[in-house]
Amino acid sequence: MRVPIPLAKAWRPFNHGPVTLISAAHDGVENVMAAAWVTPLDFDPPKLSVVIAADTHTRSLVEASRELVVQVPTVSMLDLIEGVGSTSGRDTDKWSTFGIARLREPGVAAPLVDGCVAWMAARVLDEPDLAARYDLFVVEGTAAWVDDRVFTDGRLRDAIPDALRTVHHVAGGVYVVDGAIVRTRV
Ligand SMILES: Cc1cc2nc3c(=O)[nH]c(=O)nc-3n(C[C@H](O)[C@H](O)[C@H](O)COP(=O)(O)O)c2cc1C
Repeated sequence: MRVPIPLAKAWRPFNHGPVTLISAAHDGVENVMAAAWVTPLDFDPPKLSVVIAADTHTRSLVEASRELVVQVPTVSMLDLIEGVGSTSGRDTDKWSTFGIARLREPGVAAPLVDGCVAWMAARVLDEPDLAARYDLFVVEGTAAWVDDRVFTDGRLRDAIPDALRTVHHVAGGVYVVDGAIVRTRV
């Protein structure tokens, strides 16, 4: 079940470096792309660094709206990840092409992608030099949710259904699926 989590813990579901999906909306247009270069940058309020290439449709929506949703898909969504990561919303309606259901949250312009297991709605901080030089956006969380079958207190659970495991992108369509959790004593 999707449940809200406190903003102070919203960085946690992104800390193990899973592939993400970035959704954005502006002026009635909504789009989603895959993004692997997403990294926590601060705790509270939570910030992420997000690389969004200049030629993407998502970039134009993010720059216009100054908002986005970053979310964590599962291994069950690999075809969807590859699909939204290899086509452009400029000429493809990814929602219908890849059968993606959208969830709505009051006060959040961008849709949330159904089937993901963590979501952070965020606003784009004003760092024009970073975007111009490195395609880098610093975003600050405004609300966050997790699937409580996968995360507890914002952290990966010990036992996760195989279908809900998160993935890491190696390169060129090769992925690693999250496996066993190991703990230190402290
Ligand atoms: C697994 C995966 C990870 C990706 N990571 C990024 C990323 O971190 N930043 C980026 O700009 N593009 C990344 N891409 C490429 C974009 O998702 C791709 O350019 C997409 O077609 C852009 O769609 P749009 O034009 O509809 O915004 C990735 C693609 C895949 C498949």
